[in-house]
Amino acid sequence: MALENEHGAHNYHPLPVVLDRGEGVFVWDLEGVRYYDFLSAYSAVNQGHCHPRIVEAMVEQTRKLTLTSRAFYNSVLGAYERYMTAFFAFDKVLPMNTGAEAVETAIKLARKWGYDVKGVPANQAVIVVCDGNFHGRTTTIVSFSTDGDATGGFGPFTPGFKIIPYNDLDALKGALADPNVVGFLVEPIQGEAGVFTPADDYMSGARSLCSDANVLLMADEVQTGIARTGSLLASEPGFTHGGSWDGLSKPDLLILGKALSGGAYPVSAVLADNAVMDVIHPGQHGSTFGGNPVAAQVAIAALDVVRDEQLSERALRLGIRFRAAMNDLIADCSLITKVRGRGLLNAILINDTEDSSTAWDICVALKENGLLAKPTHGNIIRFAPPLVITAEQIDECAAIIRKTVLEIAQKR
Ligand SMILES: Cc1ncc(COP(=O)(O)O)c(C=O)c1O
Repeated sequence: MALENEHGAHNYHPLPVVLDRGEGVFVWDLEGVRYYDFLSAYSAVNQGHCHPRIVEAMVEQTRKLTLTSRAFYNSVLGAYERYMTAFFAFDKVLPMNTGAEAVETAIKLARKWGYDVKGVPANQAVIVVCDGNFHGRTTTIVSFSTDGDATGGFGPFTPGFKIIPYNDLDALKGALADPNVVGFLVEPIQGEAGVFTPADDYMSGARSLCSDANVLLMADEVQTGIARTGSLLASEPGFTHGGSWDGLSKPDLLILGKALSGGAYPVSAVLADNAVMDVIHPGQHGSTFGGNPVAAQVAIAALDVVRDEQLSERALRLGIRFRAAMNDLIADCSLITKVRGRGLLNAILINDTEDSSTAWDICVALKENGLLAKPTHGNIIRFAPPLVITAEQIDECAAIIRKTVLEIAQKR
């Protein structure tokens, strides 16, 4: 901790625990104390820490060939692209590394499509985004953030974004009246904002409004995707791997990251059908590491695990169990006012102000009781364990949360 404090930039405020080892739902600190991981690296470790199949795929490929750049073909990328496009039922995939890079890629694709296909006048393209969004940390992405910490001191900002309220289809309809709108970039559930779950028909409603206005629906599933919310994707709960979209909410651009790699390696991707993806030509976009053979093997293994271990079904089932336990707690304790979420992406709301330290204090106490979680705001704590957690473990963790919250409530 002292080394990080002295030699590292202070762009994070970690809980005071130094993790050294992980396996499945557990992590251990340097003293060998075991904790339940209820953050999962912001939902990147859905398959559990150091999943043997993912580690094996990574190690095996690392011994053979790690990086060629896209100046040449590599012997894994094509197979990975075939696997990904079949898994998610899109024509094509564009591989990148981090979530923010994938969002940037989707923004470029939407703008290019707007000029080349929709016929928007040069440099006039508008992308509609939502209040409370979180799509990453690059300069363009923070340009349309509504969080003062993300934007303060980082201007001038990239133009071409219009912010509307989240979960408001009337506002979307109004914004889409502008003929220069090329895309609607949206999280199917807002994760960083505190797990805001919109109305059940929000994504299907957005889909039909975008179709009517000839605007691309751009679903950022970096945090919600890959089984986290009790379905493979949050955009359309009925969609399963290798299936067909029933057409209700298929996005034009699907943005994935985080758990696409099982937390082992940075892997992100944008999926689209040919009518959109074919607007990009050699030299117009790329990444030295995007599509490298290690990333490709890791992502195939990570998705194999999601399918074979039925992680969507597990997240759906255990999420209901977890929220029921939190509702029991709410009935007994006025410090917690609400639990919300889908699958195993949940948050509890604390009866205190947004700038209070109560959520932080609860997280520190949870750590003492063997469970690691992190506030999203002063009064919201997100709970997102690895999806390989068992029902017994969910019950044990709910009991830890209950005991900790009741202790803190008593002291107030
Ligand atoms: C919805 C969403 N999009 C994009 C990102 C950015 O991903 P990365 O941190 O890998 O750049 C995040 C990260 O939390 C996210 O939650």
